[in-house]
Amino acid sequence: MNMRETPLTVCATSGGLIEYTLQVNGASRAVSAYRETSLLLVLRNELQLNGSKYGCGLGECGACTVLIDGVAASSCVIPAFGVRRRAITTLEGLGDRQRLHPVQQAFIEAQAAQCGYCLNGMIMTTAALLQANPTPDDRQICAALSGNLCRCGTHKEILCAVKRAMTLCQQQAGKA
Ligand code: FES
Ligand code: FES
Repeated sequence: MNMRETPLTVCATSGGLIEYTLQVNGASRAVSAYRETSLLLVLRNELQLNGSKYGCGLGECGACTVLIDGVAASSCVIPAFGVRRRAITTLEGLGDRQRLHPVQQAFIEAQAAQCGYCLNGMIMTTAALLQANPTPDDRQICAALSGNLCRCGTHKEILCAVKRAMTLCQQQAGKA
């Protein structure tokens, strides 16, 4: 199961800066950007939300993953203007140091990183996967993360982290 939203084509039109509002992490955020500016650049440069990383800029590596209406999407190939009425969640909206999301907690416990550059994408995609399917098997986990590249080769630890996240999410759901 691939949870990743199909990338939208980058708008080819050009023009001046426009002001509009994005719905990010549960809040309305005013931005000023070109119509075709990617969501990744708007999040990082306009809103200082730097959890999403710039990797390939082509929708190929997953480093820039955010959730759009709960679905993992590559923010580098999606014009921010085109998703201004949709709910965007970044790594910062998932949890913070005081209140970690279970997936973040699991990745820390599993020490599933070397350089860490891929982790935003791994965590956001895992969060979307477990929201849609709380008990994925190994094949489903690998399929969901197939659009997220890790150049450091920490795939084994990442798989352990996803499984730990499954347990933590189930524990949290049991307490709710
Ligand atoms: S930076 Fe967006 S997919 Fe690589
Ligand atoms: S930990 Fe370095 S790219 Fe994944």
